[in-house]
Order: sequence, then C-alpha cells, then structure tokens
Amino acid sequence: MGLRGTVKVPGDKSMTHRAFLMGGIAEGTTVITNALMGADCLASLAAVEAIGARVERTEQDIQITGTDQLKAATIDCGNSGTTIRLLSGILAGGQETYTLTGDASLQKRPMDRVTVPLTTLGATIEGNYAPLTIHGQHLVGTSYTLPVASAQVKSAVLLAGLFATGETTVIEPVLSRDHTERMLPKFGVEVTIQEQEHGRQIRLQGPARLQATTIDIPGDPSSAAFWWTAATLGQDSSITTEHVLMNPTRIGFLQVLRQMGASVEISNRQETAGEETADVTLATTSLQAVTIEGEQIPSLIDEIPLLALLATQADGRTIIRDAAELRVKETDRIETVVTTLRQIGATIEATEDGMIIDGPTPLTGATVDSAGDHRLAMMLTIASTLQPEIQVLGNEVVEVSYPTFYDDLKTLQQ
Ligand code: S3P
Repeated sequence: MGLRGTVKVPGDKSMTHRAFLMGGIAEGTTVITNALMGADCLASLAAVEAIGARVERTEQDIQITGTDQLKAATIDCGNSGTTIRLLSGILAGGQETYTLTGDASLQKRPMDRVTVPLTTLGATIEGNYAPLTIHGQHLVGTSYTLPVASAQVKSAVLLAGLFATGETTVIEPVLSRDHTERMLPKFGVEVTIQEQEHGRQIRLQGPARLQATTIDIPGDPSSAAFWWTAATLGQDSSITTEHVLMNPTRIGFLQVLRQMGASVEISNRQETAGEETADVTLATTSLQAVTIEGEQIPSLIDEIPLLALLATQADGRTIIRDAAELRVKETDRIETVVTTLRQIGATIEATEDGMIIDGPTPLTGATVDSAGDHRLAMMLTIASTLQPEIQVLGNEVVEVSYPTFYDDLKTLQQ
C-alpha cells in the first residue's frame, strides 16, 4: 500500500544544535522556535545549561539566556557528535576545566579532528576519544585548512575563534554545510567569506561576544528525505513535506533523486533565518542507477543509507565512492547499510569508501537490527513500507533525530 499525504518534519538538527549552543553563550535572551527536541539536540541544550546558561521552555519556543562565565561541568553528549565537537570549540577558551563524554558509539568516534586544530589555537585537551578533558585557556587566532570536509570541525574552530585574540581563519577545500557561518551574523558577529582557488576561506575576529537574537528553525531535509524515498519507491504514493530547509549544502540528495529520474516538485519558496525553505513533493516513479562521488558527498552524507535503498530498486549499477567518512558516523554506515540491505535481499557490496549496488532486486522479509543508529532504523522502516515482512529491531533510536517519525508514518499510511 502506498503512502500519501503531507508532513511537517521537525526542525533542522544542525541548525537547532547551533542555535542552542550560540544562544548559550550570547548576551541576552535568544528565542528559538520550531527547534528539534530530539535527544541529540537536547544534549546541546543540557550542555549550555550545565555551563551556566538559563533555559526556559514554553509550548511555543525555547528561551536561552546566555553566559560568558562558562562554569566547570561534566557533560554527557549522548550519541551526538555535533554536541561534543562544537562544544569542544566553545569550552577550549573557557575559564574552567570541563569533561565531555558520551555513549558507547560516541566514545568510538575520532575526536582528534577537533583536538588537533583547537590545540593550534592554544587549547589544552586530554584525549582523542571521549571522554575529553578540556582545560580552558587563553586562545590566539590561527589559520586552519580542513583535511576532511567536516562542518563539525569547521564549526569547532570558528566557535573557538570567538574566544581567541585576533583573527581565526578556516579554509575548506570542499564545501560542507554552512549553518555556523550563516548563523553567527544573526548573533551579531561579522564573518568574512572568500572563495579562493584552493577552497573557501571563512574568517572572524576575536574576541567577540554574541548578541541574543530570534531564530525560527526550518524543517530538516535529512528527515524529509525518508518521506521522499518512501514516496518515490512506494506504489501509487505521493508525499509533500512542508517548510523544508533548501540550503544548497544540504540538498544534494534531492539533486541525485532528480538525476535518478524521480518526480520532484518544489513550491512555496520562502526565506527563514537567512535560509531558503520550500515545500517538496515526491511521487512514485521508476529509477535509473547513478554514480555519486567527489564534492557531491558532503551535501548528502547523512542520506547515503537512503540512496543505497533507492539504488536497490533502480535500474542498473549504482556506485557510491569518496564516502569513507561514513565509517566514522554513529555506526560504520558502510558496514551496517550493506549488511542490513543484504539481509533483505539487496545485491550490494561494500568498498573501502562506499558501496556498489545492482538493481532492481525485490526486497525480501527478514528481521534486521538498527545497531543503535537512528538513520539506519528509519531507512529500514521505509524499506518495511515496501515489504511488510521486514521487521526492524531497536527502532526506539529514532528519538535521536526524529522523535515523531512513527507518528508521521501512521498519518501517511491512513
Ligand atoms: C553535522 C555535520 C556532518 C553530519 C552530521 C551533522 C553538523 O558531520 O554528518 O550529521 O551539524 O555539523 P561531519 O562534520 O562529521 O561531516
């Protein structure tokens, strides 16, 4: 049975983290509407509270009164890579000692990608995996070229730059999501961006105190992507997702869907918080295989589990390469995607930096495990809308980024 209807997906996860963290160190009270209240973002909210910000939640919004005296704290970042990495940048220039830890998955994820650049600003951090101990220091601005396309690393360095003396510059050879550099000016910080031959240069002058603002968070395209996939693959399906963030660094997945032959309709374009939003409608179509690689990857990295599922139903061989970063996400997503899709009948093979999928193959019934990975749980649930004999274990983990996922699914099934 197909899925039909309209969904308003929750607020964007990356933007919510940044709004909470920046609000937490801003002067005055920042008011945030449509924030994502998933476990990851709640870890960022609890973190700013722990270091001294005041947080008030009402039905309509979240109000954060920031602090510039960052109190000593031990902070559990849960499953959230964005919390631990961005917070490391903020606390590196604090006045106290801080301990940042997380769940078993987070403790296995590499943190040297932030500790190394932060050290060049003068930070003192113990540990290259969580738990990290950060001894707040006087920081001095520096110039850092990102060795991997990572918005988390870029953001950690820029946030540390707010507490540093002088200019901090980040050079990114490949464009990654740009919410930090878009949101800082909303908090009154001047950010200079220059496109150069060797990449994009982002600069700010420290020390700089953020000024409170209001932020309305658009819908998360990485959450909408589950419904876009369900609509494309379902029988006689059509789903509209409303008020979704259309930031170009985030919608590589929609471009690939188009390339594969999907029917993508975009309407009601608007501007919110310096970001474009739109309603996006997808309907059932047949698909062609594609090759996904290079500079496309950062703009769709979190949607690769869904691209793999789409590829199982597309005509021909889909190749995903240059995506070794998948190996250090909430799980090794090359391994977990390939293993679970194989269990449900896909012809899929792992490579060092991606996967190769031959399609179309009919999906078959099996019991599959989310391995504690929210995006895997939701991708496999979308597969189960095509083949009802697929059972997904550990699906409570959707709480991390999309707590109302199963409610929205029910609405679309009616
Ligand atoms: C994020 C950046 C990406 C992404 C993650 C959220 C962010 O990670 O995969 O889900 O909000 O900055 P990397 O910075 O590791 O690429």
